[in-house]
Amino acid sequence: MSIILGVYFSGTGNTKHCVETFVKQYDNNGIAVSIESPNVIEAVSAHNTIVLGYPIYFSNMPKIVRDFIDKNKNCFQNKKIYIIATMGLFSGDGAACSARVLQKYSAIILGGLHLKMPDCVGDKKALKKSTQANHELIVQADKKIAVAVQRLKDGNPHKEGLGFLYHMAGLFGQRLWFYGKTATYKQKPNIDIDKCIGCGRCVSICPMKNIVIQNGKAVSHNQCTLCYRCFSHCPTQALTILGKQVYEQCLFEKYS
Ligand SMILES: Cc1cc2nc3c(=O)[nH]c(=O)nc-3n(C[C@H](O)[C@H](O)[C@H](O)COP(=O)(O)O)c2cc1C
Ligand code: SF4
Ligand code: SF4
Repeated sequence: MSIILGVYFSGTGNTKHCVETFVKQYDNNGIAVSIESPNVIEAVSAHNTIVLGYPIYFSNMPKIVRDFIDKNKNCFQNKKIYIIATMGLFSGDGAACSARVLQKYSAIILGGLHLKMPDCVGDKKALKKSTQANHELIVQADKKIAVAVQRLKDGNPHKEGLGFLYHMAGLFGQRLWFYGKTATYKQKPNIDIDKCIGCGRCVSICPMKNIVIQNGKAVSHNQCTLCYRCFSHCPTQALTILGKQVYEQCLFEKYS
């Protein structure tokens, strides 16, 4: 059995890649499982050291990750946890958003790593980069992961996002103003009925089971965690989430 377990949530693939890369480099037998996997709690229970990864949404952790931790709080007692937060630009205290909750549930926080990755909000133009620039971000993140793995092994792990100044930067940088976006599930994707061909792809990949097909067209409820998975996989670009127009469907594989 591996000495370390990766556990992640990933809407568009960035965090999955980072956590898988980290645990593989730490231990050849290292595996990573999604919080959506039916086996995730069994895997967590069987390991003492866990790398927890998630994307940053508005300088916060996704609501689906917060709920996963709360629901399984007993499993995290006395576990040693290293946190990876991926982001398009900046999060302030992204790693600490889960660290504070996990510590409350008696987990031991080993360290935190912030990784800049391609921005997945493809219906807003602001942070869009060229394919080459996004590829370069991944190359740089991979280099940083290699260093971080060695530092964790040496007993000198990164502590990114975990101090007081990071906390202030996260809180006042964004989280305070956009808290409502990640505190509840209320946003729902907009679906262009004329574009939707009723293929059901969004239905099968939504981690919240938030979309159904009715009369041959996708219909969304309002339990969205804003992961952009449906948006990025729709074959006809029929969905938007925070913006009004599809600029780019962003998936890790496009840039790797
Ligand atoms: C709703 C939403 C809000 C986001 N907010 C931030 C943010 O506050 N700061 C940031 O740097 N990136 C932000 N991002 C970008 C993602 O954190 C980034 O693209 C991440 O690597 C996506 O990971 P994934 O591919 O594993 O889902 C946001 C993305 C989404 C979908
Ligand atoms: S993936 Fe796109 S086309 Fe397919 S059902 Fe969903 S919204 Fe419609
Ligand atoms: S509706 Fe789309 S963006 Fe919202 S949780 Fe489901 S897949 Fe993610």
